[in-house]
Amino acid sequence: MSEVCRNAHNFPNFLRVAKGTLPCGKCPHIPGRRSLLGKGIIMKINILTEEVIGKISAGEVVERPASVVKELIENSIDAGADSIDIAVEGAGTKLIRVADNGTGMSTDDAKLSCLRHTTSKISSAEDIYRINTLGFRGEALASIAAVSKMEITTFDGEDKSGTCMYVESGEILRIRPAGRPRGTTIEVENLFYNVPARRKFLRKESSELTEIVSVVGRFIVSNPDIEISLTQEGRRLFHSNRGESGIERVAAVLGDDVAGSMMEIDSGEEKYRVKGFISSPSSTRKDRRAQMFFLNGRYVKSRMISETIQYAYRGMLERGRYPAAVLFITVSPEDVDVNVHPSKLMVKFSDEKALKEVLQRTVYGRFKEEKKKDISAFREKEDGRTGPEEFLLREEDKDIQTEFAYKENLSGPAGKRSFCSEGLPFGEIQDTERPFQVGGCYIVQVNDEDVLITDQHAAHERVLYEVFSKAKESGPPEMQDLLFPIRMDLSAEEALIMNKMIEDFKTIGFLLEAFGDNSFIVRAVPAIIKDRDVKTVVADVLADMSAVNLSRVELVDELVKIAACRGAIKAGDRLGEDEMLSVLSQLSRCDLPFTCPHGRPTSFRITIDEMEKRFRRK
Ligand SMILES: Nc1ncnc2c1ncn2[C@@H]1O[C@H](COP(=O)(O)OP(=O)(O)OP(=O)(O)O)[C@@H](O)[C@H]1O
Ligand SMILES: [Mg+2]
Repeated sequence: MSEVCRNAHNFPNFLRVAKGTLPCGKCPHIPGRRSLLGKGIIMKINILTEEVIGKISAGEVVERPASVVKELIENSIDAGADSIDIAVEGAGTKLIRVADNGTGMSTDDAKLSCLRHTTSKISSAEDIYRINTLGFRGEALASIAAVSKMEITTFDGEDKSGTCMYVESGEILRIRPAGRPRGTTIEVENLFYNVPARRKFLRKESSELTEIVSVVGRFIVSNPDIEISLTQEGRRLFHSNRGESGIERVAAVLGDDVAGSMMEIDSGEEKYRVKGFISSPSSTRKDRRAQMFFLNGRYVKSRMISETIQYAYRGMLERGRYPAAVLFITVSPEDVDVNVHPSKLMVKFSDEKALKEVLQRTVYGRFKEEKKKDISAFREKEDGRTGPEEFLLREEDKDIQTEFAYKENLSGPAGKRSFCSEGLPFGEIQDTERPFQVGGCYIVQVNDEDVLITDQHAAHERVLYEVFSKAKESGPPEMQDLLFPIRMDLSAEEALIMNKMIEDFKTIGFLLEAFGDNSFIVRAVPAIIKDRDVKTVVADVLADMSAVNLSRVELVDELVKIAACRGAIKAGDRLGEDEMLSVLSQLSRCDLPFTCPHGRPTSFRITIDEMEKRFRRK
């Protein structure tokens, strides 16, 4: 059956032009028009007007009010301002005003500034490869001007007077002299008034305002030498003063709680210099919103950086938890391409691998440093020595192996510390070191100045986690053959997992053998857990493993975590003094002793100072 086009031409079915609505390719009186096969679309090449071109490219730069705020602040920073005031109304849809005390513009420059491809920041193609200003495309003002009513008031301190210029839909409608101290004020009114589609797609006011607040927050954090304020409908949302410290600025933006838990990092001199702040593993967030990365002062989004950091925290975070991190990366402009994204949010590094390494080394190194400072501070005070390493290696301790430490069978230098001193000749060890168990879960130690409280499960879990994790690289930990091998009869599902992972179990010290259909024999277990109820541990590990749905690589990581959790002393287990001492000594030998693998703290200290505050003596 034939169909008919608008001009009553018959054509076969396969052309499927919407019946009666469009002309077809056969229509002789519309030269050049052809119907697109199967789509019913008419194609004709038109040359777009400047106005349309302006609106299209504006769409790339100016997505929403926050993009305008970003571009205007960047211009102020590039103009060398050290004070920037931002005011918005209607979450930026009614008004955005950015006033700065930067270099300002001459009347001639002001006129040029709103045209497309006009910039004072680069002049040749090579310049693109050594950009050290935030702007360089010469597009922002033109784009904003194309989709708003804009007024620029500016004075460069040299012309006879300042200039006030009014621009609508990209066209300069008025220009007059105006008084103003050196600097520039740009007012953007009725954003997208001439692009209704864009206006319709804006989110509700509160979301647009949140976005503006985040944008301004990023500038506050990354420009400690600039005074920045933000008001919405006259209400002040931010105000930062010059000369505040980096962490004060972070606190102003991310809040005192987040900032209070952050540690400063610095990679030192490197090709990629990384400075900034990261949260301690025990104080993390449920999303990545407290992560901000700056590259040569420019805020960038980078999944790579975020994932690298996440990796550095591995084994310390619960699933779905993310560290807070404010990082400033400095790199020579030739080693990075900022020209790969319309709003310059994404960048491309010339040597991504090197940056990853620096990031990991710096973050991980900081944890280790913290370990030395924190956990061992207690031990230091305890006997007046300087640190656990020294403590560990004291000459007279060298051959000491308490019975208990001997039992530990850790791969490290087990048992060589005075902490496991039961029954041994340590004149200087005071009674106050004796641990007590409170609530069947917490180990409490007291000395003259501090009380150290350790969560027995979290601590032991950390110990096992490190032993099992290391086994992946350096071979199984010491294993203990069972005098009476244990037979386990599993569900089909569990047996499936066991079959798949029998070698992985072996890697972490569990020697198992298939024994008929769904049965297995446990022949040996990691010596470090041999005193635990082995059958329950293995059964619990399998039950947990069958509940996870992960890829092969993730499964092995999960096994390490689950085995550490299930193998560890539980809350509620009664512990003897020697067992408590053993856990504590093993914990102090861990690389990262502050948290369990899920990120909960293993121990904390109450200092005399805090006690005095509580009793209001201070
Ligand atoms: N606040 C300001 N103070 C002084 N000069 C400014 C200011 N804002 C804009 N200008 C001038 O106007 C020019 C055009 O600004 P515009 O933001 O459009 O482009 P750009 O900053 O050069 O590049 P980009 O499009 O990447 O932002 C700038 O190069 C600068 O010379
Ligand atoms: Mg700019």
